Parts: sequence; C-alpha cells; structure tokens
Amino acid sequence: MGCLWMFWVFFCFAAAPVLSVPPVGLQPEQVHVSYTGVPQSMIITWTTFNKTESWVEYGVWGGKLFQLTAQGSCTLFKDGGDEGRKLYMHRVTLTHLKPGTAYVYHCGSNDGWSDILFFTAIKEGSEWSPKFALFGDLGNDNPQSLARLQKETQLGMYDVILHIGDFAYDMDEDNARIGDEFMRQIQSIAAYVPYMTSPGNHENAYNFSNYRNRFSMPGDTESLWYSWNIGPAHIISFSTEVYFYLEYGLDLIFKQYSWLEKDLEEANKPENRRVRPWIITMAHRPMYCSNDDKDDCTKFESYVRVGRNDTMPVAPGLEKLFYDYGVDLELWAHEHTYERLWPVYGFQVFNGSMEHPYVNPRAPVHIITGSAGCREKHDGFIPAPRDWSAFRSTDYGYTRMQILNSTHLYLEQVSDDQNGRVIDIMWLVKEQHGTAAWK
Ligand SMILES: [Fe+2]
Repeated sequence: MGCLWMFWVFFCFAAAPVLSVPPVGLQPEQVHVSYTGVPQSMIITWTTFNKTESWVEYGVWGGKLFQLTAQGSCTLFKDGGDEGRKLYMHRVTLTHLKPGTAYVYHCGSNDGWSDILFFTAIKEGSEWSPKFALFGDLGNDNPQSLARLQKETQLGMYDVILHIGDFAYDMDEDNARIGDEFMRQIQSIAAYVPYMTSPGNHENAYNFSNYRNRFSMPGDTESLWYSWNIGPAHIISFSTEVYFYLEYGLDLIFKQYSWLEKDLEEANKPENRRVRPWIITMAHRPMYCSNDDKDDCTKFESYVRVGRNDTMPVAPGLEKLFYDYGVDLELWAHEHTYERLWPVYGFQVFNGSMEHPYVNPRAPVHIITGSAGCREKHDGFIPAPRDWSAFRSTDYGYTRMQILNSTHLYLEQVSDDQNGRVIDIMWLVKEQHGTAAWK
C-alpha cells in the first residue's frame, strides 16, 4: 500500500509540468507564403494556439538543410466569437533570396517545427513570363477545384496563386475554427507558392478581422489594398467591400480611391509603364456580370462601377478611374461562375476589330472567375447573354494566366467538372498600353 501511495505522489509531481502546456498548441500549422512586394524577399505566415517564438530555418534546394535562419514576430489574434479564441499569428520575412532559386524551409521554434516545405523566390526584372492560377470563392466545404490545384502546384505549374476574395465560408464561423480548417486545407498549395489575396464579402465579420490577421500582403493596409510587380506586370489588389460595409467607415472608400489614383499615376509614369506595361487589377465583386441573382454587378448602376450617390459625400466608382489610367485587365470573382467579357467601357463594347476583338482592344477586358467551389454551389445566368458577354460557364473550375511578354497575355479556363478540360481561351494582344491604346 505504502509503495502504491509513493508511486502516485511521484506520478502526479513528475507529470504535472509536462501536461500544463498542451503540446498541440505549440505546433505550427496553416503555413503559407506570400510575396512582400520587395524583390528578393518572401514572407512566411503560420499559426499556433499558444505563444511561441517565430523562426524560419531554410536553405537553397539541394544544399545543406537549414543553413540560414530568420526570426520574425508573433501577434495575438483574438477572434470576435463568443469563445474569444486566441490565435498566435507568426510572420517571418526572408530577405536576400536569389531570384528564381528554390528554397527548402520549415518554420516554428524549438517548441515545434512544421513539415519541410519549399518555394521558389520570385524572379527579378520584367523579361520573363510569370504563370498564375486564379480564382475566387473557394470554401472549406465543397472545395472542388482544390485537388487539381494541389497537383498542378506540386508539378510546378504556377509562380503565384491569386485568390480573389471569399474564403472558407466563413473564416469566422465556429469561433474561427472554419478559418483554421480552411487555412490547413490550402497549406497544400499556399505553403509552396506565394498566395496573394483580396477580401470578399464572406470575410466581413468583425471588420474583416480573420482576413486581416491571417494574410500578409504587401503595404500597410492589413492586406485590404496593395500593389506589387511581377515580370512585365503591375498588379493591384483592392477591396470592393468598402462600398458595401459602410459601418466599418465610409472614409475607407475615399482612402482607397486616393491610394488607387496615386498608385495608377506612379505605374503610368513612362519609365515605369515601359518596364511593366501590363496593369492588372484584382478585386472581389465585379462591375459587370450576367448572373440572375440581383448582385451589384447585375445592376446598371453598380456601386463598384459608378460609386454611390446615397453617401455624403458621394462616393466615386472605379470604372472611369481604371479607364483613364489604361488598366489592361480586370479580374473579379463573387459570382460562382466564369464569364469573359468583350473589351467594355460604359456598357459599350470596344473590340480591337471584328475578326480580332482582343488584339489592340480599345477598353479594359474583364474576367469573372468565382467558381472554384464552395458550399453555396453554383450561381445561375440570365438566359440571354448581354452584348458585352463573350463566354460564360457554370462549371466548377479556375483560371490559368501567363503573361508572355510586353505584348501578349494568355488566359484559359479549366473546368473541374469536365476533368480539367480547357473550356475557354483568350489571347490578349496589346502593341500599346495606357490610354493611347483606347484611341
Ligand atoms: Fe462574394
């Protein structure tokens, strides 16, 4: 009996310190990579459920493992749900990366490390042809395109992935556990290739706090609007949601508009546009669409297109701004369909010519690609396409894009429903960029 008592005393005292911190809370998860916008650098972001240090150990692929180390920092994200769950978001910036070189890394701390992962540093200069996968509206439930995207990412088919709003459905649900699960699901692509994002309406809870805390985009707006350069392109991501959630601040429409104007002006300086002739925008809710769901884009006076006149002061829209600065291509999502538009401005079609509509078009081209797959399934179209609608599909899928050079951009739509078949192709050819191209 005495012996047994001694055993219990020993067991309790010896075990207590080990059990006081659940080991699972120290293990890095939800690892993803994004481009900082600064050449030769990349940022690694991940989550733990207890506070730990933030380290990345890395090295050139094929070289000695973990030869290099970088330390970052960790911020507390307290979810807005009833449970007030605490998540620790770690961010480490890697600098002085060799352009185009593959790196092997793991992240975490001596309390726990991630699996071994890898990414390729973004190439420098404008004389190369970046490849993208792009889509919006990918959910935690029914993420139909994800498996194909995982395999294609592993095959090295993409330099960057663009997710144009609406994640998880929704990241805040179940006290942000849906957000955690979604970020685990996309680790299979986002830990290997920069995953660049825009906010959508499904991120609106608690003033977009899950979106702002989980992603690490360039600039200082907590990923809401920013721009970056890749190859011959200048890419601008912004929030269409500022037009719809006025409770978070009417001023955001004006702040974003001024920022867009300044950014477009800078990108249009002759010395900049010569090097990066393609200006491409990405944001969630389209200006045009021919869906039958009465969303903003189905209305003639779409907020995103023409602004709002029910606010004080009146809020400016974006169609004219983008036209005036010669934006070449506008990428959207939100509608759970794919739609390619003829070059359009003010509801008028401005094809390059009858035979070759996308060769030297006289207005921006819009693509809507929000059919990656989510619990809300498909959206429908109105029976007769509009004059400005060139091709549309309700298949689940995503878009591939390659910017070949300063004059040629290739885009194709993949149908996951049809086992990966390419159902639409567009070659956008521009011998001239900027507003001179509209003449
Ligand atoms: Fe949406």
